[in-house]
Amino acid sequence: MYRLKCIKCSEEYPHDKQTFICEKCQGLLEVSIDIDKVSADKDTFDKRPIGVWRYREFLPVGEGAKIITLKEGGTPLYPGENIQKKIGLDDLYIKNEGANPTGSFKDRGMTLGLTKALEFKATGVCCASTGNTSASLAAYAAKANLKCLVILPAGKIAVGKLAQAILHGAKVVAIRGNFDDALKLVRAASEKFDIYLLNSINPWRLEGQKTAAFEIIDQLGWQAPDRIIVPVGNCGNISAIWKGFKEFYNYGLIDKLPKMTGIQAEGASPVAQAFKEGKDDVVPFNNPDTIATAIRIGAPVNAPKALAAVKESGGLLETVTDEEILNAQTLLACLEGIGVEPASAASIAGLVKLTKSSEIDTSEKIVCITTGHALKDPEAIFSRFEKPIEIEPDIEELEKILD
Ligand code: F0G
Repeated sequence: MYRLKCIKCSEEYPHDKQTFICEKCQGLLEVSIDIDKVSADKDTFDKRPIGVWRYREFLPVGEGAKIITLKEGGTPLYPGENIQKKIGLDDLYIKNEGANPTGSFKDRGMTLGLTKALEFKATGVCCASTGNTSASLAAYAAKANLKCLVILPAGKIAVGKLAQAILHGAKVVAIRGNFDDALKLVRAASEKFDIYLLNSINPWRLEGQKTAAFEIIDQLGWQAPDRIIVPVGNCGNISAIWKGFKEFYNYGLIDKLPKMTGIQAEGASPVAQAFKEGKDDVVPFNNPDTIATAIRIGAPVNAPKALAAVKESGGLLETVTDEEILNAQTLLACLEGIGVEPASAASIAGLVKLTKSSEIDTSEKIVCITTGHALKDPEAIFSRFEKPIEIEPDIEELEKILD
């Protein structure tokens, strides 16, 4: 019912083939599911709790597979009433992926990733990461009882994420280099030491991430929004979410598709630049830089998938500055009560920018995806907000400092 297929030359490989890259043309692979052989409907899903595995028929795992789960997904879809009013929109929602077990959307991918790793009889798993992937992989590897190696750019990982990877018992290696260097190294390590690679170049992992689209449709009462806005780094998530929408559309569960809108931080925006220049070739940024460390990536591996998602859907890619990102983080926290890390706030920063420039129609039904929890990166908060005022435990002293 499912196999691997090259997105460039359409070459197919059996589902148990151990490769992530087309052997013929070096193109990226995706999982191709025979949608006409799927048998499930809204009632089938309704009998199960909301979350990744509610949509099991659309997930490429064998019948008897041992499923590694921490009950990921089922994240809230909030109406963004206050932001909507402030910036003049009619119908805004926020899908808060920070509510996943390890605090980011990566958990959707890792439940599939570790389930497949066991199916493929892996004894260890590995990834390079800007932080969240490593936190998630470490937790799911612990649950699956597999060894875990994570390679991180030294000094560039938000402290909450690093703490998680260490706590869950991963072997944590920091390299003198950036994320792109870490990814190169871990790909070599995966081959040399036969450790299963779980970066987003792994198409099985993205199958879990596509369930964010399924849940949005489900939570909106079986309809698709007009637009999805999502932060973009290595380009896996936007591609996965688009695949999810297409599958439910092809299966007949929705009758239209949303415009996929990807937001990159200006200092790490090679894909948005290529899109704006109308090019398919993405020119890497050699020294990517942004406060949004999660998306500080100069050479995104899934760029061709993301560009295809944006073009096929009639969407767009936009950049936002660090200042716009931090303002959006504050807006979400103080108007909606949703605490997110800077990279997460890129979707809201993009929303604000595109509304101002009238690229978004104010009547659209829009879902902004916030990808990671505020506590992942406490330093990004402490560095710009007032520290607590210290006083004696005395009512007069308290009165003096209250407005
Ligand atoms: N938002 C957050 C919070 C992330 O951690 C990431 C990616 C993204 C957005 C971008 O998603 O790469 O699929 O386009 N973080 C990866 C990591 C790279 O290692 O944790 P993408």
